[in-house]
Amino acid sequence: MHFASDNAGPVAPEIMDALIRANDGHAMAYGTDHLTQALESRLRELFEAPEARVFLLTTGTATNVLALATLTDPWQSVFCHRDAHIEVSECNAPEFYTGGAKLIGVDGPTGKIDPGALRSAMASLSDQASPDTRCGTVSLTQVTDLGGVYTLDHIRAVTDIAREFGVPAHMDGARFANALVELDCSPAGMTWQAGIDALSFGGTKNGLMSAEAVIFFNPAHAYEFEHRRRRGAHLSSKQRYIAAQYLAYLDDGLWLDLARRANRAAARLEAGLKGLAGVTLVHPREANMLFTELARPIHARLRDAGAVYYASKASRDDYVAARLVTNWATTDADVDAFLAIVRSEG
Ligand SMILES: Cc1ncc(COP(=O)(O)O)c(C=O)c1O
Repeated sequence: MHFASDNAGPVAPEIMDALIRANDGHAMAYGTDHLTQALESRLRELFEAPEARVFLLTTGTATNVLALATLTDPWQSVFCHRDAHIEVSECNAPEFYTGGAKLIGVDGPTGKIDPGALRSAMASLSDQASPDTRCGTVSLTQVTDLGGVYTLDHIRAVTDIAREFGVPAHMDGARFANALVELDCSPAGMTWQAGIDALSFGGTKNGLMSAEAVIFFNPAHAYEFEHRRRRGAHLSSKQRYIAAQYLAYLDDGLWLDLARRANRAAARLEAGLKGLAGVTLVHPREANMLFTELARPIHARLRDAGAVYYASKASRDDYVAARLVTNWATTDADVDAFLAIVRSEG
């Protein structure tokens, strides 16, 4: 009953097998090996973006902040949702890596940037003495930090505003696959065709081992990334092991299967929790995260039974807020055991 984070899930066996296969003899280092090169071609094909540039890293934070640093000047501002990981959970790494660009948090339900609020925030900066130069990148998160999935129209509405102000758009896709399978669209459709210039293409939360990638759809943005990655101490030498994981991940749609399993488990959990006394679903499930409020006795029973999830202050004193995240390895039995404890009397 481990619902703390998809980061807590195991590495998929197909990925472990790929790592063993990649562990054969010598290969050039720092991304000049044949697997890394094969992956760049594979991702260009998958994203229908023959010019795209791909860079491999080991943390989602590094992909986000190095991409933002590449796209944003130090005197500019990055616009993101008020609850975005880059705003609340990266210890000011975006400000640090961009050399001081300010993050401006914008409101919107379930972690999705409200286009009207974004336009006002950007316009209020552009009204100042030096228009154009102070607005920097717009960054949106798909799946959002509150479990929401942007529709394609919503992504387009946000990136259109970025275009209006002449700035690039970045997508934090730490849970990219979980959103893609819900929208049932193509990777190109959810990114550059919807106006995204750079993507943090997460793998770790969906069955990879410390494997993350940045994709620049416009190669003009990428030229300095390589230098920033090395200077920022994120140039891994043995990139073949990251590339091997991604290649296996993309093979036969494994990445989509893993995401579907995670989302299905969350849907089962939501269906079981719906209507139960002492349980409030804060908003409907959209991918693999559920935000709930649980009556304190239920929370106590779950804790006693060993259920793991992040709990925080709820809107009422007699409840706790519980974030429940599923991953590819969450089983029906895990979900059903959790539900049985919620239903049982104290
Ligand atoms: C939406 C989002 N972006 C980025 C990250 C950062 O990933 P990492 O912990 O690998 O640095 C996380 C991690 O939880 C996340 O949830």
